[in-house]
Amino acid sequence: MRNATITGWGKCMPPATLTNDDIATFLDTDDEWITSRTGIRERRISHLSLEEMGALAAHRALACADLAPDALDLIVFGTCSFDQQVPNSASGVQKRIGAVNAGAMDVNTACTSYLYGLTSAAAMISQGVVNNALVIGGELISPLMDWTDRGVAVLFGDGCAATVLQATDRNEGLRASKLGCYGEVREILLVHGMGQRYANRGWYNGDTQWVFEGQEIFKRAVVGMSQACQDVLEQCGMGPDDVDLVVPHQANLRIIEAVIKRSGLSMDRCFVNVQRYGNMSAATVPVALVEALEEGRIKPGANILLTGFGGGLTWSAQLLRWGERVTPLHETHIEMPPCEQTALQMVEGYLAAKRGSGESAPE
Ligand code: COA
Repeated sequence: MRNATITGWGKCMPPATLTNDDIATFLDTDDEWITSRTGIRERRISHLSLEEMGALAAHRALACADLAPDALDLIVFGTCSFDQQVPNSASGVQKRIGAVNAGAMDVNTACTSYLYGLTSAAAMISQGVVNNALVIGGELISPLMDWTDRGVAVLFGDGCAATVLQATDRNEGLRASKLGCYGEVREILLVHGMGQRYANRGWYNGDTQWVFEGQEIFKRAVVGMSQACQDVLEQCGMGPDDVDLVVPHQANLRIIEAVIKRSGLSMDRCFVNVQRYGNMSAATVPVALVEALEEGRIKPGANILLTGFGGGLTWSAQLLRWGERVTPLHETHIEMPPCEQTALQMVEGYLAAKRGSGESAPE
């Protein structure tokens, strides 16, 4: 049996931090509302491009696995906030890290993009199409955020992480996946202002308006993720007690708690870092996975349940059996370029650009 197992991991978290109090300086909101409704206390605002974040996370993951860039056969970049549509983000990372033998593809299923990418790359490894793959989840949301809308601006942040996935004959790696989508309600999470629907309408690309039916998304997210978790556990003949750690999409602490309860799982065995970063869309699960390893929450041979939901409304779960190694083989000495501005200064720049545009969504 040819399995696909994670042998390398690395994150790139930009240092500039935007607190709830920072947001309250330009929006009618406060720390108490944001913390009690979402669990989020702060988020990162990136001074790097998405591809720069992806490349740094990739270098760190490759060093962790002790794998040379030219040994990669495939790069999958899960994102919905690409620097540019053509050429894609994965090719940008391929060039930056010198992965000259790797194919390069982007996957966009919004917040589940890393998870869909992981399942895709693992399937290619199992089929013998590739041996060594790099799966990245990253988002640069801050320049695309509508910073005048308190209903969404408080929820999101920037970040990136990457994992190396390699073929193995050992009984470890990705054991089961479930992918799903509630396409019939896709309009309840919609971002106007990105894509060709807006071309030639005098719309400045990236000047967004978010349609966001929070409570409806909340309900669907809980049902979809719980269903997906149950599905992968059944595929493996396992029950909730067999799960050593759940690493869920970090959109909202209350959503995580509801999924854990509905699935018969335990919050003691669930990794949560939404308070530090907010919703980083495709980056949340891989960043949480990296931090769970850094904090010693993943033991050799552990059963890890990943789950997420996002625009589409896509949802998924993946069950991994971790291998023997839970520490990096090496570290990279490549450093992040310094950040010259505070998070609030960067956001004030986006806000000023937004206020200057004065556009509205097409019918
Ligand atoms: N600060 C203060 N008040 C705010 C606010 C903010 N940042 N955002 C909204 N409000 C107000 C609303 O205007 C509303 O006021 P009203 O009652 O006078 O109309 C009130 O707070 C309640 O809003 P409501 O939507 O009922 O809150 P909620 O408990 O459902 O929480 C979300 C809102 C968005 C946090 C929650 O629905 C959620 O997390 N949904 C899922 C969203 C998500 O995860 N999306 C990511 C998909 S990948």
